[in-house]
Amino acid sequence: MPARLFFSSGDLMADRRFEFARDLQLKGDLAAAADLLLQAIELAPDFTTAWFTLGDIREELGEHAAAAEAFRAAQASDPDDRHGAGLRLMRLGAAPVAGMPQAYVQSLFDQYAPRFESSLVGDLGYRGPALLFKAVLAVRAAAKKPAFFKRAIDLGCGTGLAATAFAKEVDHFTGVDLSPRMIEKSRLTGVYAELEVADMLQGLRGRSDASADLILAADAMVYVADIAPVLVEAARVLAAGGLLAVTTETHGGEGVILGGGLRYAHAAEYVRAAVAAAGLTMSRLEDLSARNEDNVPVPGLVVVALKS
Ligand SMILES: C[S@@+](CC[C@H](N)C(=O)[O-])C[C@H]1O[C@@H](n2cnc3c(N)ncnc32)[C@H](O)[C@@H]1O
Repeated sequence: MPARLFFSSGDLMADRRFEFARDLQLKGDLAAAADLLLQAIELAPDFTTAWFTLGDIREELGEHAAAAEAFRAAQASDPDDRHGAGLRLMRLGAAPVAGMPQAYVQSLFDQYAPRFESSLVGDLGYRGPALLFKAVLAVRAAAKKPAFFKRAIDLGCGTGLAATAFAKEVDHFTGVDLSPRMIEKSRLTGVYAELEVADMLQGLRGRSDASADLILAADAMVYVADIAPVLVEAARVLAAGGLLAVTTETHGGEGVILGGGLRYAHAAEYVRAAVAAAGLTMSRLEDLSARNEDNVPVPGLVVVALKS
């Protein structure tokens, strides 16, 4: 994943103390690093990166209540929450599972964009686009319809891997992504007729009824806690006979959880209910993993739903 975010405190001495603290943290001297971070914070009380790093270290030390306190301070000093301190609170169980801050997703993927494909495809064995393609072809074959789509929307399009997999079967591709740098990369593929920097829900809300024949979201719902509103909008934007095809990560319990990797996992029943509530018909729901973590497939679902 990307290098850590750093936002200067605006105070040279505080920034220096932070740098020393990071060195100590990397060398494993966590207690000394925490001490230096507190000194930096004394000089610059709104030093978000120092608060966030302090939370990180305290969590590593097993001091969960103190870690939560530091993450709360990081969140308070940066209301956009570019570090994602809110997610860390959720993972600690110190806040209920809620949506991801947009600024966090944006900075995460803006930083990640240059290395995204080598990291995801190379290191994590990413296969989301191929799984979606196969599932969509199977659904079309079962319906005895050609797998050709006039207008398609790729939600959380990233660098364009999913649209590239479908390129030959689609006339007009629109890509939507929160990260401007990912959009820059996707533009280079030449696959998209239209690209939009936007949250996927807002992107869909801007489209007219029945204006798409296929909507894809490959490895993007893992950044959306409540997928139900997205599915409702997707159902509105799809024309009759159109398909929604998404990958998710999943878990054996109920509802939505935030996993250790700060990605959401949606239970199969939750996905089924969201598909039905959106007025779509489930055409295919398979237990298939789109990527690995530590060389082990992450439990996942491949979902294809039909607008009838
Ligand atoms: C892991 S990448 C997958 C990219 C691409 N779909 C693929 O298969 O390679 C996830 C992408 O979703 C985008 N994303 C996450 N949350 C989003 C949201 N709410 N709206 C739009 N894009 C989002 C991220 O910026 C990132 O580019």
